[in-house]
Amino acid sequence: MTCHVNFKGEKVVPVEEGQTLLQASLAAGIPHYHACGGKGQCTTCRVLVLEGEEQLTAPTIYERAIKNVKKFPDNVRLACQSFVKGESVVVHRLIRDETDRYIFIDSNEANTTTVMGERRKMALFFIDIRNFTPFIETNLPFDVIHIMRRIFALCRNAIARYDGEIIDTAGDGLYAVFGLNSKIRQAAESAVLAGLKILEDIKIFNNTYMRPYFNHTFEVGIGVHVGKVIVGNVGIGLSNNLTVMGYPVNIAARLQAATKELDNSFVISAIAYRLLKNPPYSVGCSYLNLKGVSNAYEVKLIGKPYEKKQAAAIQL
Ligand code: FES
Repeated sequence: MTCHVNFKGEKVVPVEEGQTLLQASLAAGIPHYHACGGKGQCTTCRVLVLEGEEQLTAPTIYERAIKNVKKFPDNVRLACQSFVKGESVVVHRLIRDETDRYIFIDSNEANTTTVMGERRKMALFFIDIRNFTPFIETNLPFDVIHIMRRIFALCRNAIARYDGEIIDTAGDGLYAVFGLNSKIRQAAESAVLAGLKILEDIKIFNNTYMRPYFNHTFEVGIGVHVGKVIVGNVGIGLSNNLTVMGYPVNIAARLQAATKELDNSFVISAIAYRLLKNPPYSVGCSYLNLKGVSNAYEVKLIGKPYEKKQAAAIQL
């Protein structure tokens, strides 16, 4: 049986049996926002039911959970969790914006998962090059760019070798993920192996290139954490690249930043460390206080303490 629902101010939409309100409105070309992809895990598809509330099926368990937390009144429903039993339903979409059309309706992207994002467990990897500022100050711009490219190439190669993906670069650091094609244990293992490889390669680069030619050495700080993140092309940024975001990403970034205060070049969360099949030797563990986390966060130190800088030798 086909019913009809009036999306007030937009159009009257036919709703087939077994179709949710959201599916029907999207099929009719309404730019209906649905950030979680219609899984009952956000609130963006919600509608205000103006008439015919009784013609909608009862809220699903997902919708009830969200309504409890958000304290939505009974006549606010999640379109992706509502089926239609009869005529005379009139609804009004609550989250509306012209941009929705551009993001969700006119997108050429065929794979909805990629467009909407998908939740999955991944290993998050942040690296930052230390002591770059003094190098910039005392060297010519083209030399700086040349060295930067060498170091980034070295990082890129190690990350690619262990099946990681660089998500973003900023200043003198970058952010990569592991686990796009593997389970979380393997992802954590790969992130650690890539990090250790970079530490080793930087050491060689310092000894064979930087010290003899530039009288300077670099050190890096690496932070690794694992957790559930949203993966997809969420349309942020200038290019339509893969985005991986979520609270665990912030923690991984914080662990990287903590390498300085902990005086160790590689800091990994204890949660990630416990996933490793062959955990590297940890010189110790520490506890970090993270913003928004009530208990101190346990981390393992698997890198080396930073070198104390000697007075610079004269460069020839
Ligand atoms: S689309 Fe997320 S709850 Fe409906």
